[in-house]
Amino acid sequence: MVETVKVLVTGGAGFIGSAVVRLLVAELGVSVVNVDKMTYAASPAATAGVATDPRYAFFKADICDGAAMRAILAQHRPDAVMHLAAESHVDRSIDSPADFINTNIVGTYTLLQATLEYWRSLDAEAQGRFRFHHVSTDEVYGSLGADGLFTEETPYQPNSPYSASKAGSDHLVRAWHHTFGLPTVTSNCSNNYGPFQFPEKLIPLMIVNGLKGRPLPVYGKGENVRDWLYVEDHARALWTVLTTGKVGETYNVGGHNEMRNLDVVHLICDLLDELRPSGSGSRRSQITFVQDRPGHDARYAIDASKIARDLGWRPKETFATGLRRTVAWYLENEGWWQEILDQKYAGVRLGLAAGKKA
Ligand code: NAD
Ligand code: DAU
Repeated sequence: MVETVKVLVTGGAGFIGSAVVRLLVAELGVSVVNVDKMTYAASPAATAGVATDPRYAFFKADICDGAAMRAILAQHRPDAVMHLAAESHVDRSIDSPADFINTNIVGTYTLLQATLEYWRSLDAEAQGRFRFHHVSTDEVYGSLGADGLFTEETPYQPNSPYSASKAGSDHLVRAWHHTFGLPTVTSNCSNNYGPFQFPEKLIPLMIVNGLKGRPLPVYGKGENVRDWLYVEDHARALWTVLTTGKVGETYNVGGHNEMRNLDVVHLICDLLDELRPSGSGSRRSQITFVQDRPGHDARYAIDASKIARDLGWRPKETFATGLRRTVAWYLENEGWWQEILDQKYAGVRLGLAAGKKA
């Protein structure tokens, strides 16, 4: 295990990044420098619990700004970078790919260059301990048929502008390791869910719409399959990969929770009915089947045996326990998501503006 005392986290005000920040600062006592542009997806509330901790520092900055990245690295001298900043929503990447190319590809390149310059300035011992951890997605592997799992050897076949931009960033990280010797590790994770997820994504959107008595828009027939992982399990996996992963390797992360979208929505409806009965029957009656996502990947499923075997990581939550915790969190934090609905995103359908007919 490498000794990691101070970490620069990019995207630490986002859904997964903030779970990483909370884990590192509040549970593990690690110092964190959070670098985030504060896009629509960022939430100051998600890091409010550590905001005054002396081990926590925040910079509002864009990873595409090389001068800012170099200055922050030189000033704070971290032992590692955990790179989570990204544009993350597939539907938005169909409507407006430019932000995805800029942040996910140009931003990752800019951060890699700034990090390489910083890493070269370290003494040999510090260079040996340093890690650049690139946080990526299983979507780079494309879409599975009815059988099989994504392994670390599955060829890249990204299908959306989002996944293509993440695949591009994965390749840049690989090249910066092989060509320049930067000590990198990469992880590719399946669908996350949990507290502070922006309600444009399936699970929080269904919870919020379910509570408001609005239609629950299921794309196509709801038969697409995703593999769900509770966000705090992902945060622990990321720390494991950072501190014990082998330099130059990639690790798939997943929760062994494959499920059809329609079945996920049914479970959410049933939990809402149990925890906050509507008085007018089951939420399942709010389900509406809507036009499919252009280029919609059929199935994702992760083979997480490498991270289990080599690094000893396993998820703590099952989908049943994690989803119950998640629904309960959204019930208790209505103020958080209502402000988003009022000010940032009212729940309108995204991703149909420019794509081919599904
Ligand atoms: P998110 O959209 O919730 O958060 C992204 C964060 O990055 C936001 O705080 C945003 O302000 C910040 N950001 C965006 N552009 C930036 C820029 N140019 N400079 C600095 N900060 C910027 O995303 P998330 O769901 O938390 O995903 C985090 C990472 O994990 C992403 O790299 C994503 O590809 C990857 N990932 C996500 C999932 C998932 O299910 N959500 C699964 C696997 C991998
Ligand atoms: O697999 C990892 C990826 O998971 C991450 O890299 C992405 O950042 C993350 O957004 C997520 O991508 P998905 O496209 O799978 O997530 P999303 O929540 O947008 O959709 C999940 C499934 O639900 C997908 O098959 C589309 C469907 N869906 C989504 C929405 C928003 C619906 O049926 N209705 C909806 O309203």
